[in-house]
Amino acid sequence: MPDAYLHGYATEEQARLLSQAEHWREELILAGTTLAPGTRLLEVGCGVGAVLGVLGETFPGVAFAGVDIEERQIAAARAHLTGLGVQADLRQADALKLPYADASFDHVWMMWFLEHVGDPVAALREARRVLAPGGALTAIEVDYNTVWASPTTAALEMLFSAMARGIDSAGRSDAGTRLAGWLAEAEFASVDPGARNLSYSGADLARQTAYAAALLENMLPTLAALPGVTASQLRAGLADLQALPATPGAGLGWAAHKATAFR
Ligand SMILES: C[S@@+](CC[C@H](N)C(=O)[O-])C[C@H]1O[C@@H](n2cnc3c(N)ncnc32)[C@H](O)[C@@H]1O
Repeated sequence: MPDAYLHGYATEEQARLLSQAEHWREELILAGTTLAPGTRLLEVGCGVGAVLGVLGETFPGVAFAGVDIEERQIAAARAHLTGLGVQADLRQADALKLPYADASFDHVWMMWFLEHVGDPVAALREARRVLAPGGALTAIEVDYNTVWASPTTAALEMLFSAMARGIDSAGRSDAGTRLAGWLAEAEFASVDPGARNLSYSGADLARQTAYAAALLENMLPTLAALPGVTASQLRAGLADLQALPATPGAGLGWAAHKATAFR
């Protein structure tokens, strides 16, 4: 288990992962994805099985597998997927040493995972090893350096900058922007960076603000430990974030990537 894993394994965090996958069900997980019955799909860094659950409910007949480095996540994934009636081969394993023979899968999925990994290219090479020739990889990440709010405040800017620094303290805040380069370096073909400039206003803003605030709440202890940052500054930023939906003409956004590539 990586001690440095930013979000930890508390029950609240496991519940947040389930809400997170629900939140991104249509816009990021299902948009542009089709999986034929019989596809063998592995999710690397599957956490509590939240994404596998969304895929399993949508694409019956797919043979699902998931690995996570943390046994507590795998136990939670088993419970979650059993509850949904989705069958999956779930194993505790390191992404750098997958417990599968070469060419075992037709599709490998990674979501909010490469941002936490010390050597993303090594993880992608290992994913490529278990893909059958012509197999596909989907990787979804954001670039935390692109988060913006309008109107902004000094406290919000401090909060967003601390968030990117916090991710960098145990991973890569710019994972989304770097995905295509990492995939090419790992010798994937037909790499599509899948850039999406997400921008929310009006009725969508309250939902996105609540999502971002929950993520930031989870990260608060890590962010408050950064040099030059105090918990009260972060709380002021969070209050400004939560006030956005009630501010006329306000908006919030960031760049996400749903990259695809083939072996
Ligand atoms: C933010 S969670 C995302 C989980 C899931 N993909 C989702 O979207 O709900 C990242 C997961 O990656 C796992 N992880 C981190 N490093 C790993 C590694 N080297 N091998 C396998 N899993 C790893 C963590 O334990 C954690 O469950």
